Amino acid sequence: IKITIIDREGEAHLLDAPTDMNMNLMEVCKMHELPVEGTCGGMAMCASCHCYILNKENLLPEKSYEEEDMLDQAFFVEDNSRLGCQIPITKELDGLELKLAPQQS
Ligand code: FES
Repeated sequence: IKITIIDREGEAHLLDAPTDMNMNLMEVCKMHELPVEGTCGGMAMCASCHCYILNKENLLPEKSYEEEDMLDQAFFVEDNSRLGCQIPITKELDGLELKLAPQQS
């Protein structure tokens, strides 16, 4: 599938995201060398993958307790904030658009 990721400089990147590799949004960012650290390895414990979902929000899985909890401690949180590592890449997400949140430290 294709997803659009807007980086912290405001530049949009149209990227390939494979649906058959068990990847999540954080891993897709890293694969394409966007500045997303994924410090906790996708455990919802660092917020370095914090992003704002710009469309298709209703197609995403509900936030887990762990994700809610981490977002409570993150910076610059908005209504459309999510942790990229908690969003698996599925076919339905073709055309997804998101923006990276500012650096979390
Ligand atoms: Fe750490 Fe997503 S990679 S919270």
